Parts: sequence; structure tokens; C-alpha cells
Amino acid sequence: MGRQLKFNIFRYNPEDSASVPHMETFRLEETEAMTLFIALNRIREEQDPSLMFDFMCRAGICGQCAMLINGRPDLACHTKTKKLPDDITVLPMPVFKLIGDLSVDTGTWFRDMNTKVESWIHSDKVLDPAAQEERMDNVLADEIYELERCIECGCCVAACGKANMIPEKFMGAAAFNRIGRFMLDPRDQRTENEYFEVVGTDDGIFGCLGLLGCEDVCPKKLPLQDQLGMLRRKLGFSAVQHIFGKVFSSKK
Ligand code: SF4
Ligand code: SF4
Ligand code: FES
Repeated sequence: MGRQLKFNIFRYNPEDSASVPHMETFRLEETEAMTLFIALNRIREEQDPSLMFDFMCRAGICGQCAMLINGRPDLACHTKTKKLPDDITVLPMPVFKLIGDLSVDTGTWFRDMNTKVESWIHSDKVLDPAAQEERMDNVLADEIYELERCIECGCCVAACGKANMIPEKFMGAAAFNRIGRFMLDPRDQRTENEYFEVVGTDDGIFGCLGLLGCEDVCPKKLPLQDQLGMLRRKLGFSAVQHIFGKVFSSKK
């Protein structure tokens, strides 16, 4: 017989004027290889069909099932209950807009972030569809691929002290990772100054507190610390140029 698990789950439906935020307790017997996703699904199927949470791939790929699991942002589908105590508290991720219960709107946040950091290749080259595909150095392609692995789950954002302080504004580690990816890409012709215009602010890289909660919780183990360090080094020089540029222009 498996352990008796107690799930304390946040419940609230902002669409229902009668709904008030509260915690609700459910109990389940643990089964072999149970994940939190399986447990939530069983609760929904067997005890309360109104429970709201998101999932799609069930394999740590789509990034939909992120939530706060005993206080830590993580993916429900790759969290084995055997790694958790028998008393499990599940909350929706902060920073993102609550849809209901454990479901949050990460999509709008990530769309806005991708627009803010201009997450596309900037190039004057005119595409010739008949031309042969350009080759890229294998090592460089691997380095870019490493940063492309972000699944936009939002765990790094939910764990970020600064994003919790100014949720509407702070760009967050996923945005810095995105910029790092384009800085590596030889097809993107943006200069360091142009990148500085995008992330060289207190809502961007210079507002980052550097405590690295983001890297600790990233389920894809992205090298966020390296990206933050690289951006600070590279854009710090542009920041000095901007400050001296302003001093000189104000003296004219
Ligand atoms: S290191 Fe920066 S981006 Fe990462 S959690 Fe801390 S403040 Fe947020
Ligand atoms: S960087 Fe990691 S934690 Fe952040 S959104 Fe991407 S995969 Fe999720
Ligand atoms: S359901 Fe896709 S990452 Fe968990």
C-alpha cells in the first residue's frame, strides 16, 4: 500500500464573483511512479472536475504545467511525488496573471517579453529562396541550440525577486537568455549599442539582483548565470559610453 498523500491546493476563480481565494485539501494514495501531474489529474477525475491547471505534453517539453510546489516553481509533469513529503502544497506561479486555481497566463507574458527584446534575426540581407542554405559552424550552432532549449515555462520568472517586485516591467532571466542567443548568432547584425538600447536599463540587465534564483529552478538547466554575466560585462561597457556620451553632450 502506498503513502497517503495530502494535497493542499490553492482555489480561486477570478471569473466567478462568488469565489474567494482559499486552500482546499485532497487526499490520494500514492502509486508507483506517480508525478504531481498524474495526482492532479486523478483529483480532477475522481474528486473535483472543476480543478483548473494546465498541461499539454506531459514530458517537460511544452512548459505549460509550471506551478509552485512546496514553495518552489517546477513542472508538475516531471515532479515525482516520491521526492516530495506526504504533505504537498501547490500554488499558482506569482508574477503571471491568474486564470484560475493553478492555471496562469504565461503566454501573454512571454509574447510581450519576446516583443520587448525584439526576438528575431535583425538583418539587411534580402532572402534568396533559391540560394543554398548558409552553413554554420557546428560548435556555434550547438551553443545557440543550448540557449534555444528554453520552454518558456516561467519558473525562472516566478522565482525572481525583482520580477515579483515589478512584475509588469522587469524583463527576467528568460529575456536575458533570449538576447544572449541572438548575440551569439552571426546572422543577427545588431551592434552592442543596439542590444544596450533593448536591455541596458534598470528593468533589464542592470536591475538584476544577481542572486540566481532563476538558474536554481530552471527545469531545463539553462546556463542563465553565464548569460547574465556575459550581458553585464558586454553591456557595462556600452553603459559607460552612454554615460560619458551624455556628459559630453551636456557640456556642449
Ligand atoms: S539573478 Fe537576476 S534574473 Fe535571476 S532571479 Fe535574480 S534578479 Fe531575477
Ligand atoms: S529559462 Fe528555464 S526556467 Fe526560464 S522559462 Fe526558460 S526553461 Fe523555464
Ligand atoms: S505538461 Fe508539458 S511541460 Fe509539463
